[in-house]
Amino acid sequence: MPRRTFPGTPGPATNPARSVLELAAPSSFAWNGTDAQATVRIFVARTHNRSNRIDLLRRSVNACNICDEGSPSASIPLVAGQSAIQFAKVETSMHVPRDIIIDTDPGQDDAVAMLLAFASEELRVLGITCVAGNVPLDLTSRNARIVCELANRSDIPVFAGCDRPLVRPLVTAEEVHGNTGLDGIDIYEPDMPIQDVHAVEFIIETLRKHPAGSVSLCPLGPLTNIALALNLAPDIGERVEQIVMMGGAYFEVGNVTPTAEFNVFVDPEAAGIVFRSGIPLTVLPLDATHKALATRPRLESLGRLGNKSGAAIVSLTSFYERFDRRKYGTMGAPLHDPCVIAHLLKPEIFSSKFVNVEVETASPLTLGMTVADWWGVTDRKANANFVGDVDADAFFELLTTKVASLP
Ligand code: BDR
Ligand code: CA
Repeated sequence: MPRRTFPGTPGPATNPARSVLELAAPSSFAWNGTDAQATVRIFVARTHNRSNRIDLLRRSVNACNICDEGSPSASIPLVAGQSAIQFAKVETSMHVPRDIIIDTDPGQDDAVAMLLAFASEELRVLGITCVAGNVPLDLTSRNARIVCELANRSDIPVFAGCDRPLVRPLVTAEEVHGNTGLDGIDIYEPDMPIQDVHAVEFIIETLRKHPAGSVSLCPLGPLTNIALALNLAPDIGERVEQIVMMGGAYFEVGNVTPTAEFNVFVDPEAAGIVFRSGIPLTVLPLDATHKALATRPRLESLGRLGNKSGAAIVSLTSFYERFDRRKYGTMGAPLHDPCVIAHLLKPEIFSSKFVNVEVETASPLTLGMTVADWWGVTDRKANANFVGDVDADAFFELLTTKVASLP
């Protein structure tokens, strides 16, 4: 049987499905004039919901036998008449939403992050876990439900977690977010209930129940819930697809002390546990989030959407803009936490470097500082994809486009 190069095999660089799967040249191809049989290696990126996608691929292409699920590639015999281009199309259409848990302390910018996630069909929010941070836990867990109801998403379960940091007293930020934590919109007692399972238990059970490597964690507040889950159930560490978190600062220095960012400062021991966990970690520090400024023209675009979610974002952001304008002199509030969701959706609008980051937990002067070895001057192992910049226009375009689909 003659062998030849497989026609039309998309190379990894141009493959339209690259964000989902990578197609390499087939390792073998056989052709007898009417039937084709090829074995194509499919590379499934670990960061893209790998096991779900392999499952889906198995279901999408009848008669294909995907083997070796545990390795970074799978071999697929092509059936007659199929081409690699068709494969690429099959794969492109496989937009399985990525499963995420949002761990949060709303917070106006947390609220915007939640809305962005709800508006994104690329993401499936398995649950919202609340933590004490910007305001105490009873308020963050109420605020999270208000945001769900605003977007008509009371189907998403909301869980209350830790009401204080692992070893320190709670520090809150009412001066930034107002006494409710969500000043700027109407605050009321939501109809949707808080779940009667502790947030930490939900995180552990969800990670154990879902295929390993298929659930990402998105912390938007102090890292207490995440660290406690990792401490109580070390087995979940390798089941987490990745952690994409808002926290820390390096070149931009601190916002709560001269060297520390709020989320890390509130629970530095918890942050240290997360940074040492070995879980793939992307960090959105102030270095990037202070560039995502909700300027007037950007807010006007959101207001022109004419929906209640857009209007809520304008009111929420306008409230806490006053604080940042006074503090930094900037023209617009930084949308810290939505950068996490935007990074999941469009990592290409951010730039980052994989470096070592350690959290200071001892020095009273620099407590909570995220010490990033940006220039690689130590031999400490890189543990974090530390984001340094964002294309703010692209970020606001993404936010506005997505929020347009909400009520
Ligand atoms: C972080 O602290 C909170 O005030 C915000 O919600 C954000 O998560 C910024 O330092
Ligand atoms: Ca937050």
